[in-house]
Amino acid sequence: MARTITRAEAWELLTEYNKEAFHLQHSETVEKVMGYFAKELGYGDELEFWSNVGLLHDLDFEMYPDEHCIKCQELMKAADLDEKMIRAVASHGYGICSDIKPEHEMEKILFATDELTGLIGAAALMRPSKSVSDMELKSLKKKFKDKRFAAGCDRDVIRQGAEQLGWELDDLLGKTLAAMQATEEQ
Ligand SMILES: [Fe+2]
Repeated sequence: MARTITRAEAWELLTEYNKEAFHLQHSETVEKVMGYFAKELGYGDELEFWSNVGLLHDLDFEMYPDEHCIKCQELMKAADLDEKMIRAVASHGYGICSDIKPEHEMEKILFATDELTGLIGAAALMRPSKSVSDMELKSLKKKFKDKRFAAGCDRDVIRQGAEQLGWELDDLLGKTLAAMQATEEQ
């Protein structure tokens, strides 16, 4: 019987397949952002679930980059995880490495914020403070438009994410920046 898991169990599974600090840090960032949005959007009772989806969303990426969003389904099934969690994780690569479309609001948030947290994190590192705390939306918008900056962060995916949510792009940028500001210290 598939089940939901605790944060400690999710962390154990994550670290079984992820060793690089960069990947662990990204996973934790997305975990916190997902938790923030769960509360923000009225899903407070599902906060741990949203957070664990964020924590595990790139489970297979370090060891199986060529099977991203596919291999993770196998790994999560083997760990007896809930089907809802497996499809949520796999849906974040929709149109890229997965044909599972984000449908639940949680899945849409994951899709929209995954690349964007990378962009915001890269922008933070350029600041003297090395922090998002003093970043303004205006400067994030500039970084978004500058194609040479953090070129690996796919702007089209972020745009598509906003569209799936029915949000204006600036809204998504502002809310995700606020999410990272609220959770940076954690
Ligand atoms: Fe990711």
